[in-house]
Amino acid sequence: LHTEVPYPEPSPCRGWCPRRWGARTMKSALCSRFFILLPWILIVIIMLDVDPRRPAPQLTSRPYFSPHAVGCGGSRVPLRRSSPGRDAAEKRNESRPQLQPEPRLPTIYAITPTYSRPVQKAELTRLANTFRQVAQLHWILVEDRATRSELVSSFLARAGLPNTHLHVPTPRRYKRPWLPRATEQRNAGLAWLRQRHQHQSAQPGVLFFADDDNTYSLELFQEMRTTRKVSVWPVGLVGGRRYERPLVKNGKVVGWYTGWREDRPFAIDMAGFAVSLQVILSNPKAVFKRRGSQPGMQESDFLKQITTVEELEPKASNCTKVLVWHTRTEKVNLANEPKYHLDTVNIEV
Ligand code: UGA
Ligand code: MN
Repeated sequence: LHTEVPYPEPSPCRGWCPRRWGARTMKSALCSRFFILLPWILIVIIMLDVDPRRPAPQLTSRPYFSPHAVGCGGSRVPLRRSSPGRDAAEKRNESRPQLQPEPRLPTIYAITPTYSRPVQKAELTRLANTFRQVAQLHWILVEDRATRSELVSSFLARAGLPNTHLHVPTPRRYKRPWLPRATEQRNAGLAWLRQRHQHQSAQPGVLFFADDDNTYSLELFQEMRTTRKVSVWPVGLVGGRRYERPLVKNGKVVGWYTGWREDRPFAIDMAGFAVSLQVILSNPKAVFKRRGSQPGMQESDFLKQITTVEELEPKASNCTKVLVWHTRTEKVNLANEPKYHLDTVNIEV
């Protein structure tokens, strides 16, 4: 039997030689080099492409911000006033890193009292959707309850906002339609703010009482952020009129346009003013009072403790623009809601 065995060709070269290695070996060597270099090439491309001033992409859900997470809302789009000059300068320097950091924005602390009811989650959702668009905002949500609710806790955990979750129940004797609401909750928010800043020199900050059912324009936050002591502005859909507003003459508040109890020292709704953190800290005893306070007088009783009408800073074009509305949500019709749970699943609403 005779078989032809191919005779191996003698190699013409010494050392590394493509012919001796063979085409297949060479291909795999090139391949492995390519895969070693690939990640480095990608890293270089990404680094060249990243603009250091561009905010990180918005995460849809974020871990819970601890009460100490002030200013961690880095991924939110800052609301800033832009001048044409500044915009042009920004465009020119687009690819260069900014040499001078922007001065820190004062933090806006929004104190929101809230209580359990069928529309609670819907109200909080609307509010969070607004607040998420405001730079450097810390949300102090105060539940009118003896314990934190599961609904609000899990809502806040996914809200994507720096926040503090507090709770304090309104004593039963004060739960009457003719008595002021949310006194204890706003005071709990004030106490937290004072305690948090007791040891550090106060960072610039502005406090604002944001009820959970009102409607807030984004412009409002730009206006209140420059508050030096106490600022005021009009509120829409309140006091039995289309709006209420402070009357301004030569840049000073001289009276009030209101349809209800004009004799109030500060005829203004809770949504119509902001106070600087400095004023809150230098008046440690200023709180909302139950004793002797009637509904509609809470604002006056509080403001009397920290300021005077002459000192007020008018915002919103000398109080001629409505940037917040005292909206109230209709009570929901649950007439067909079964007495006992009938559905096969339990759904949070
Ligand atoms: C008006 C003012 O706009 C409020 O700032 C003021 O607290 C209230 O009157 C008052 O009478 O004390 P109004 O729309 O009548 O507001 O009040 P609500 O919106 O029902 O309550 C104000 C805030 O307190 C809301 O954030 C609400 O969630 C909260 N609240 C209300 C509680 O925490 N517990 C309650 O039992 C009721
Ligand atoms: Mn309300």
